[in-house]
Amino acid sequence: MSRALDYLMQARPQAMGAYFKFLKDNGSRLEPKTRALISVITKVAVETELGLVQYTRKALEVGASPDEILDALMMAFPALGLSRIVWAVDVLIEHGVEGFADLAVEDSEETAPAPRGERLDVCALDQLPERQTVKRNSGRYPLLLWREGATVRAFKAYCSHQGMELMTSGIKGAQVTCAQHGWQFSLPDGRCSRGEKWGLSELPVTLRGNRVIVQWQD
Ligand code: FES
Repeated sequence: MSRALDYLMQARPQAMGAYFKFLKDNGSRLEPKTRALISVITKVAVETELGLVQYTRKALEVGASPDEILDALMMAFPALGLSRIVWAVDVLIEHGVEGFADLAVEDSEETAPAPRGERLDVCALDQLPERQTVKRNSGRYPLLLWREGATVRAFKAYCSHQGMELMTSGIKGAQVTCAQHGWQFSLPDGRCSRGEKWGLSELPVTLRGNRVIVQWQD
């Protein structure tokens, strides 16, 4: 979820709650892959970069292949037009989305490393409060962090339900609540209240001196 939507959830909770309920109800008769593909198309139609990346990852998670995602975009050609489809593929490559980035690297003569293994110098260890969930954005990568002494655990700040970004406003102590449908996660282990399989994705952390280094993985 974008910061603007997060803000609106707080400023107009009733209206936004009704809006998300409306969306949820209308998607309830579709299977997850179809829902995710439709969401990808809508994000391209309104050119929402972060939403496109989140929903494309969600589509991959629920079983869509990169080819099927491309097919969906091409089928929407009459509405999207070529320029939006090209924009979308550019975004997916640039964000290192699985399947799209791989193909671009195979076809490219460039030797730049794919962003999937990017090492993020997040902050100094003593900038993290003890035993408290905190959110940090490192470049375009949103993270949830937990520190206990010199041990730090890091998670992708994306909801395991539909891939929405988890926002600072949803954090209370160790717990973080997704603003979209209210799923809850708790650190230090990233557990989801909906069950073990929905836990947050953990990332490897190392310390370089006093710096916290997180290895991002797509
Ligand atoms: S996207 Fe549904 S609860 Fe987070």
